[in-house]
Amino acid sequence: MNIEVVDKVVEKIEAECEIILVSSSELNHKWIKDKDEFEKAGFKVKEDETLFLPGSARVYSTLTSFEPDDVRVSVANALKAIRKTNFKSAKIGLYTKKCPPINARALAEGIMLGSYSFERYKSETDKKSLETIIISTEDYNGNSYTFESTKKAVEEGVIIANATNCAKDVVNTTPYDMTPKKLANYAEKLAKELENVECFVGDEKFLKKEKMGAFLAVAKASVNKPRLIKLSYKPKDAKKRFVFVGKGLTYDSGGLSLKPSDYMVTMKSDKSGASAAIHIIKAASELKLPFEVHAIIGAAENMIGGNAYKPDDVLVARNGKTIEVRNTDAEGRLVLADCLDFAQDLKPDYLVDLATLTGACVVALGEYTTGVMGHSSELKHSISSSAKKSGELTGMLPFNKYLKKLLKSSIADISNIASSRYGGAITAGLFLDNFIKDEFKDKWLHLDIAGPAFIEKEWGYNQAGASGAGVRMCTYWLKDFAYKIKNVHKEVK
Ligand code: BES
Ligand code: ZN
Ligand code: ZN
Repeated sequence: MNIEVVDKVVEKIEAECEIILVSSSELNHKWIKDKDEFEKAGFKVKEDETLFLPGSARVYSTLTSFEPDDVRVSVANALKAIRKTNFKSAKIGLYTKKCPPINARALAEGIMLGSYSFERYKSETDKKSLETIIISTEDYNGNSYTFESTKKAVEEGVIIANATNCAKDVVNTTPYDMTPKKLANYAEKLAKELENVECFVGDEKFLKKEKMGAFLAVAKASVNKPRLIKLSYKPKDAKKRFVFVGKGLTYDSGGLSLKPSDYMVTMKSDKSGASAAIHIIKAASELKLPFEVHAIIGAAENMIGGNAYKPDDVLVARNGKTIEVRNTDAEGRLVLADCLDFAQDLKPDYLVDLATLTGACVVALGEYTTGVMGHSSELKHSISSSAKKSGELTGMLPFNKYLKKLLKSSIADISNIASSRYGGAITAGLFLDNFIKDEFKDKWLHLDIAGPAFIEKEWGYNQAGASGAGVRMCTYWLKDFAYKIKNVHKEVK
């Protein structure tokens, strides 16, 4: 989809159709030319309602508030309403009086996210006519926001949404087409396309050399051998170093603690954390953020077989801790344990892991919300506030010393599952905490994206399937850091 921003009044723009976002507080706005038709057509200015008038080639879509996420939903709903038409171009006015550039960005994101579809495996693809959307800044109030800043906000929105859509593509790809090796190839190719990005891929030999006993055990039974992928974005004069660690289980069958069939379906999505980390790098590079950003991906398949790791095994992790395996389906934390240890060698200022780690997190917060865990309340609040702006939902799950004790093992330093089934998302986070060195405790965040990463029904502007969870919240978070630094520098001057 092409998005253009023009400094013309909507009426003067040539396009085959017009999209009008309707807020109940702005019903008399001059863009609303068919108000009298609303009642006849049974259109109520109500959440998720749209009205398409083919005669006048206008589509009205309810805007429940001027909050960025309602802008995203509203424009995505409008696109849904005209999906089957033959219109090639559409124009839309931005309520700049009500919507500063932050909402121009949201509008662009809503357009890009809402028009995504995954058709790699369809013989007949859905016909898509709409190619261009032209945004008018007609309603511009002329005070604090310039046309240029609106245009820049739209460009940023396109970059962030596009990175999210690419993350969806990787997650939606089947386990056959996205093995650890193929994921590594994808990352290598991406690095070549991006500015200031390099890729390193470590194979099984490398994992052995690094003594990543926990990661290796998970990967053992699969014919598709594991990879450690490191993508690094290093601009000149980087101000801080961020490291994102992604769980990249290209398939999670549960291993010998095999998942029941109903639970195994969708487990191609167990690589969502990896895909998010990879595409945060894409966004960071395209936005030219002033930080070093690294993605460390543990890519493996959790399978069954004669040489599979077993409940009762004791593994030795990279940091030397021993782990009693009591359930091979709690594999993500084993892969992450070694990857987090490896990531700390980079001496990050901030360390974030993204993982579809537990079903318990989905039980706790519902499908749409990411679980945020860590020791630093400041960090947890900062990611949550950036997430809110990005349109992603988060909920904090608190650690406590009693849950920590549930991971005790009688034979090893720690067990890979807790002795109680309650608080499973938190005990998984506390398991990871065992692999975070003291100096990084307050720099670490754990994001459990098991809920929002892959949902089989569409929701808001998200299609059924992968949502790219984590990409937008972390990119907004990085952007917010960049903004803070810029302003501190200004103050110093
Ligand atoms: N990949 C799953 C978690 C998951 C569940 C992701 C649902 C997305 C949707 C993870 O590896 C897993 O199987 N976790 C177990 C942990 C348990 C054995 C302690 C779980 O959540 O049941
Ligand atoms: Zn599992
Ligand atoms: Zn898993």
